[in-house]
Amino acid sequence: MSTATHPTISFDIEIVRADFPVLNTLVNKYPLAYLDNGATSQKPKQVIDAIRRYYSEYNSNIHRGVHHLSQVATEAYEHSREKVRAFVNAASTKEIIFTKGTTDGINLIASSISHLLKPGKEVLISSMEHHSNIVPWQMACEKSGAKLRWIPMNDKGELVLDEIDTLINENTAIVAIMHVSNALGTINPIKEIIQKAQAVNALALIDGAQAVPHFKVDVQALDCDFYVFSAHKMLGPTGVGILYGKEKIMEKLPPYQGGGDMIKVVTLEKTTYNDLPLRFEAGTPNIEGGIVFAEAIDYMENLGHEAIEAYENQLMHYATAALSEIDGIKFYGTAENKAGVISFLIEGCHPYDTGFVLDKMGIAVRTGHHCAQPVMDFYKIPGTVRASFAFYNTFDEVDRLIAGLHKAKKMLS
Ligand code: ALA
Repeated sequence: MSTATHPTISFDIEIVRADFPVLNTLVNKYPLAYLDNGATSQKPKQVIDAIRRYYSEYNSNIHRGVHHLSQVATEAYEHSREKVRAFVNAASTKEIIFTKGTTDGINLIASSISHLLKPGKEVLISSMEHHSNIVPWQMACEKSGAKLRWIPMNDKGELVLDEIDTLINENTAIVAIMHVSNALGTINPIKEIIQKAQAVNALALIDGAQAVPHFKVDVQALDCDFYVFSAHKMLGPTGVGILYGKEKIMEKLPPYQGGGDMIKVVTLEKTTYNDLPLRFEAGTPNIEGGIVFAEAIDYMENLGHEAIEAYENQLMHYATAALSEIDGIKFYGTAENKAGVISFLIEGCHPYDTGFVLDKMGIAVRTGHHCAQPVMDFYKIPGTVRASFAFYNTFDEVDRLIAGLHKAKKMLS
């Protein structure tokens, strides 16, 4: 057991936990301690009920019918778009594109800006990106002849910006950087990087998948061109994501996919495209997912961004202090500015084996490379054990993690 004390909590954690049915699950006869929120969050009953309500009461296709159900579903979908707009403080709902998720949003932009990529042009990412913000750019560069470059990182898991003025130069077409590292928890200095991109007229895309669950994001204050994230990491369903794109840029970009809903007039010879945001939303989307995303946002906003951030920070600092007391532990990602994630290894214990022992005690963590193989290559390790937090986690769950790790260490090393 840790010697650290449990700090005061600013909201009633038991009332919050009662909203999440899955948290009552027993895993291997132990109450589930779900510490894999970086992979996906659990869903409150408000979201689950809203999915049931949609299919029970007004399932219908959107933007297509004059009939009652279609109108109701369309209104709910567009209401959700407005919720998302307010959530990230975009200037207009024209700037909010529903996607399948963060990966889809990045692929959309990598495809739609292909006319800006050619030999002599550069795409700048960082060495800590998730594969979803590496592979689409590698593909785009291979196709266009543009050069892929990256910002290096240091041992603490922070971006090294010493060479940033060389890395972001007049050849840079786009800078694509994660706001928070899913593998290390580092909060990157994206405002500074966006300003550097603006100074050379390069575009700036921010992968916010691991940021929006933890703290308030304001896309106008950041002044980025694109900001992408997923619903499922912030209490919503899988298969829904958001691409925020500045209107003046999005209206000049060609559509990503062709199909229904993204058109104004189609003849056999030619098509004129719809206005924003529908121009980028070909085909029937994940309607219920889009609609219930509004419930997820309501849930988070009712708790309050500041309360969520403060509580999760307490939890992470408590966990870091408690984990530090384990002999042979090594942390990966020790930046000052962190959110949501603690990655570590215990000497002599393979991460998969550690995860296996923890699972036997009902504790869910992620093990492996976390879709960030270049980060693991940097540290010359096969992977880490990652505990990632949400506001419904408790200090007792952290204590169980510590006890589980002591047991794993005894068994494995
Ligand atoms: N990107 C998700 C994670 O970090 C899946 O686990």
